[in-house]
Amino acid sequence: MPTARILLTRRWPGEVEHYLCERYDLTVNEQDTPLDADALKAALASHDAVCPTVSDKLTAEVLAAGAGKVKVLGNYGVGVSHIDLQACRRLGIVVTNTPDVLTDATAEAAILLMLMAARRAGEGERQVRSNKWDGWGPTRMIGAGVTGKTLGLVGFGRIGQATAQKAHHGFGMRILYYSRKRACAAIEARTAAQHCASLDDLLENSDFVSLHCPGGEQTRHLLDATRLDRMKRSAFLINTARGEVVDEVALADALRNRVIAGAGLDVYEHEPCVPRAFLDLENVVLLPHLGSATLETRVAMGMRVAENLERFFAGLEPEDRVA
Ligand code: DGY
Repeated sequence: MPTARILLTRRWPGEVEHYLCERYDLTVNEQDTPLDADALKAALASHDAVCPTVSDKLTAEVLAAGAGKVKVLGNYGVGVSHIDLQACRRLGIVVTNTPDVLTDATAEAAILLMLMAARRAGEGERQVRSNKWDGWGPTRMIGAGVTGKTLGLVGFGRIGQATAQKAHHGFGMRILYYSRKRACAAIEARTAAQHCASLDDLLENSDFVSLHCPGGEQTRHLLDATRLDRMKRSAFLINTARGEVVDEVALADALRNRVIAGAGLDVYEHEPCVPRAFLDLENVVLLPHLGSATLETRVAMGMRVAENLERFFAGLEPEDRVA
């Protein structure tokens, strides 16, 4: 059997590139900039496997260019809302993702944003770096505490559950969650989480609301002006999921008008574009989609793709098949 031709749309950690290079006919996008639609089409039409990531927009039109050639998309990342899965199913293209290995890193990022937003860490650092800090004062840089507060999780998959455990065991937080499917009793016990019957119920009762649901059409602007208005005026919104889950215009208004106290964001609807309105606000922490960015996690994500490809090319069902 000829060696499969594989393309990585971005640079991956060196040891994973090396691993794949020893096993496949590997092409890497050495420029490490997102491929445009034409480059993606060319890649799909000339490789057996393409390994995309969140910066690649794989629409039905782009995917059609790979009909009859590309057999599998080994996505580097757990979220797949940038891939039209229905089109993949229609075209007979298998899609895999990388769950589990980034769970803790992403949950850590949610906790990081919660602390940064509540304790005004970004604002404080800007003050120090711009030489505007003139010393300690009893009424200065007063933020909100996290310990003992209520954390509401929207979506309760692996990352939501890991966030619950860290928040409950680390900070004694009370945990609420809302998801389409209620978790089993063992998971609820392990995470000390209480199920909320409605999203509004969760929004009204949480001091921190952290998003952990998938992106895509079903959850687009789930947090809109009406839902933000349901939150406590003292509450913070945290998003490490996908940018499109939040209506960014409504969120900027809510932050400016103090409808909520603050927000911590790692993801944006049109990355890498960050709405100008956020840049002018002190009460929002802005991170550059770094949730899974630890070396061990990024290597593990690459190896997870490699395992999925190995099973696929051996004629077996890949562990992490999503389409
Ligand atoms: C993920 O795994 O979905 C991260 O957001 C990177 O794409």
